[in-house]
Formats: sequence, structure tokens, C-alpha cells
Amino acid sequence: MNKNKISVSLMCADPFNLSSNIRSFEAHKIDYIHLDIMDGKFVPNLGIGSDYIKALRKHTTIPFDYHIMVKDPDSVIDLLDIKPTDIVSVHYESSFQIQRTLENVRKYGSKVMIAINPATPLCVLEELIYYIDGINLLMVNPGFAGQKMVDNCLKKADKVARCIRKFKRTDIIFEVDGNISFENAERLKKFGANLFVAGSSSVFSNPKDIDTSILKLQKAISI
Ligand code: DX5
Ligand code: ZN
Repeated sequence: MNKNKISVSLMCADPFNLSSNIRSFEAHKIDYIHLDIMDGKFVPNLGIGSDYIKALRKHTTIPFDYHIMVKDPDSVIDLLDIKPTDIVSVHYESSFQIQRTLENVRKYGSKVMIAINPATPLCVLEELIYYIDGINLLMVNPGFAGQKMVDNCLKKADKVARCIRKFKRTDIIFEVDGNISFENAERLKKFGANLFVAGSSSVFSNPKDIDTSILKLQKAISI
């Protein structure tokens, strides 16, 4: 990736002010809209549905960054409106045949990423690295906004960076998701993260003025 990118977490946006938020995203050339797909089972929270996604697609040209947090991801992939310009992360922990699941996503032509929870060891990347375009490293136990980063996740980001170098995957998308504050974004940038999920810790930290927060985050992640 030639520049670090931002993926705004829609679950943190004000649903009653969404149109103006989307206008701001577009004005600031935000790279992705992060859509948390949740079933109340894999994570103890519910998210948006397929009708909402289709309606959203009509309101913006910004590509989607799907974060699939469901117990049986293969059962929802076809319900999403995945386009070749989107990126899709599926949790390693959510599928008994994760390589098959990743291939099911790839049929849509999008970038295919593995999402990894804080306690999941990175040795899984030794095999997965051959089937993915990127990694979504969760810095929190997923499902809720407003959480604090789990201890040792910064160190874990450094290990991911070493793994990327070991496999010479300089092309890989390295996404970080969860409590990506301005300060954490600066720290994670140094470990090679190049896609930052912006939620209540950054872009939506002051809902009345997301423009200033977007500029602040863009500055924090700039190379
Ligand atoms: C966590 C979600 C994110 C994110 C929200 O499960 O995937 O969208 O954490 O942002 P923060 O953590 O800054 O509130
Ligand atoms: Zn997410």
C-alpha cells in the first residue's frame, strides 16, 4: 500500500445524522466504510442487515470494509452486497474450514482478509498467509465500540509486522480494529499497520465535529 488508509466504523456513526456523516467521509476521501456484521452468537451484539447494506450502497461510492463476526460466516456471505472494490475480513475463529470460507469470499472478487482475535496465536498466519490479501488484527474482543485495547495487543502488532516481513508480503493489507485512538494509530503505524478502523476512539470521539477528528487521524497515520 502506498499510503495509510482509514476505514470509518459505521457502528459508531450517528444513525440520525448519517447522510451528513457520509458527505464528510467523501469530502475527506475516506478509503472504506467499516461494516460490522454481527449475529449475537460469535459476538454478543447485533449489527446491520442486508437491506440496510443495499440502501447504504445507493448513498455512497466509498467501498465497504466488511468485518464478518458471525458463527457460520459461509451462511451470510451471499447475503452481503460484496463488490470487487470491497475488502472482507472473516474471523479465523469462526469457521472450521477457514480456507474454504476465504475462497467463498474470493468468488466476489473482493480482497480477502483474516480477522484475528486478541487471544488467537499468530502461528495461524504460517498457513493462512498463502490465502489472504490482508490481516485484520483485533485490538479488542470484537462486538462493541468504546472498549480499551487488550493488553499485549501492541506487542502482537509488532509480531504481525515481523511475520509479514518473514513472508515478504509487503503487498498485504494490515488492518487494526478496536480502540484505534489518535495515539494508538501513531503507535501502530510504526509497526506497519496501514488500514485503521476509525470509531469512537478517533473520528467519532466528538460527534459534533467529525471533520476535525478525520483531519487529526489523517495526520496521525500519515507516512
Ligand atoms: C469492534 C468494532 C469496531 C471498533 C469501533 O468490534 O469492530 O468497529 O472497535 O471503534 P472504537 O473501538 O474506536 O469504538
Ligand atoms: Zn470491526
